[in-house]
Amino acid sequence: MNDLIIQNIKQLILPKTTDRPLKGKELDDLNIIENGTVVVQDGKIVYAGEHSEACEANETIDASGKVVSPALVEAHTHLVHGGSREHEMSLKRQGVSYLEILEQGGGILSTVEATRQATEDELFEKAEKNLLTMLQHGVLAVESKSGYGLDKENELKQLRVSNRLAKKYNLDMKHTFLGPHAVPKDAKSNQAFLQEMIDLLPEVKPYADFADIFCETGVFTVEESKAYMEAAKKQGFDIKIHADEIDPLGGLELAIDENAISADHLVASSEKGKQKLKDSDTVAVLLPGTTFYLDKESYADARGMLDNDGAIAIATDFNPGSCVTNNLQLVMSIAALKLKLSPNEIWNAVTVNAAKAIDVDAGTINKGDKANIVIWDAPNHEYIPYHYGINHAERVIKDGKVLFDNRVNL
Ligand code: NIG
Ligand code: FE
Repeated sequence: MNDLIIQNIKQLILPKTTDRPLKGKELDDLNIIENGTVVVQDGKIVYAGEHSEACEANETIDASGKVVSPALVEAHTHLVHGGSREHEMSLKRQGVSYLEILEQGGGILSTVEATRQATEDELFEKAEKNLLTMLQHGVLAVESKSGYGLDKENELKQLRVSNRLAKKYNLDMKHTFLGPHAVPKDAKSNQAFLQEMIDLLPEVKPYADFADIFCETGVFTVEESKAYMEAAKKQGFDIKIHADEIDPLGGLELAIDENAISADHLVASSEKGKQKLKDSDTVAVLLPGTTFYLDKESYADARGMLDNDGAIAIATDFNPGSCVTNNLQLVMSIAALKLKLSPNEIWNAVTVNAAKAIDVDAGTINKGDKANIVIWDAPNHEYIPYHYGINHAERVIKDGKVLFDNRVNL
């Protein structure tokens, strides 16, 4: 006897399994089954496809009128941090820019202060609450960065919290060391601080899968980023980069040359960088919720990247300064409106391609996969980005068991 059958599914979303990220036109291709069935046994998918009479199970869920998909993959977050920065909203209203706030010792540096002051347990409690909100919104695989410690003790503190969360919830979680996220006010020089972070790489290695750097005007240059990436690769890290978020420095080109697993933001990337995407498996992780919250006019050129046969993924960038939402569904809406992505492109970008960007086995529901599934209270897959700002995840099923049942009891 099987454990669970989900049947009468109005739309069953089955992204394709591939051994490399989907690129260009491939993202607009999504397998959608009408009247689908999913069967689960021992926490794994035993069947996902068209309606099947042949199965029995201990529990049956009727998903009439609903969408069922793989759980979403959240490929870029700054989950573990202390404090909050709501006061920056009024600075922004007065026209002070994101980089100006940072230059004045606010922004990232104020979160560094709050993170250093917090105990490990305080950080854990806050990150746990934010993580559970993400999961409640349909995410079951998460990337989580450090980068608000900027010294050995506090970077390790953040990474330990991230690792403890993965263990407590038995989650597909990847951890990223982002030591070079900002330059502390008391650093001798950018180069000296970067060297300190390079020297830390062996010590953080047991707690981190990826090494990331903020390549931006006033933070780290392309040359500095290259030196860091090469040192990180030597230590066995896969590499990521915050690139071309505000200024077109050439971070995307560097990421591709260095064979980064992903290059993230890319709002200001050059044509040359976008063209290079086609010859690489580096995933362009686009974060349109950040562009929205920074109140910028122009968004990453997702269409141009797809026209150039690039691979893109979408993530929130959840953090206390530039994108303060844990709701990936909201970012799917912004992707539809501002990145001009089709529903199929968006679903592939938050499932299979997001999984490739963080190297997790997630984002699909094929035979043998973990039964990490979302039942959406929505009539079709386009409805979810359309009706924006609320949670459409009705039931979030992890390893075949309902983790969140968000149904409202009237
Ligand atoms: O991805 N840009 C650099 N880092 C984060 C923001 C961090 C913060 O403002 O606290 C980002 O946008
Ligand atoms: Fe970020």
